[in-house]
Amino acid sequence: MNLKQVAGEKATEYVQDGMALGLGTGSTVRYFVEKLGGLVAEGLDVIGVPTSERTEELARKVGVPLSTLEKTPALDLTVDGADEVDPNLNLIKGMGGALLREKMVASSSREFMVIVDDSKVVEKLGTKSPLPVEVTQFGWTSVKEWIAKLGSIPNRRIIEGNPYLTDNQNYLLECEFKGIDDPYKLDADLHRLPGVVETGLFLDLTCRVIIGKESGVVELEK
Ligand code: A5P
Repeated sequence: MNLKQVAGEKATEYVQDGMALGLGTGSTVRYFVEKLGGLVAEGLDVIGVPTSERTEELARKVGVPLSTLEKTPALDLTVDGADEVDPNLNLIKGMGGALLREKMVASSSREFMVIVDDSKVVEKLGTKSPLPVEVTQFGWTSVKEWIAKLGSIPNRRIIEGNPYLTDNQNYLLECEFKGIDDPYKLDADLHRLPGVVETGLFLDLTCRVIIGKESGVVELEK
């Protein structure tokens, strides 16, 4: 059983006619968007705001009508994946590199729904996944040093020998924390650093988590 597919397809049950949707990014959301395309072909009337160029391309391919956050600033429901989910439904997100747009779209949505397989569920954030932090290209080595002083080992993402660039032309630092005791303080500390564009800590945003498990789907609600 493909647990990402189970979670992604389940989320389409929450989509209603006429909704403006935020479309997340990643391998789990792919299943949501593909199923949504099928529903649109059957007559469902929705509009989607994609959180990345990758999702935009997929949504176009499967026939989901698209808008932008500028044209559609108030969304009904956003569905997105996550790298870690803790018991308070706080998240680490952004290992797909789309965290800035993902957080802006999630924050513009009446409901933010997260779809994961059960490998993403943790007791404490930062124990399985590094924390991605999007930083400016300008002066990024200074930002890296400042983040290291907050207790992490940050590494700039490199793909095929080149620095990875986000859709916003920024760098991504993958920050190993070996467990984050106070995600609210860490998020505030990171945001105080000039050059930090956005962090992958998604705090107090999630309304519902759909978890794909071998035994079936489990849903957690805030
Ligand atoms: C994209 O930037 C991320 O926030 C993804 O939502 C997250 O990394 C989960 O990705 P998968 O669904 O591919 O595991």
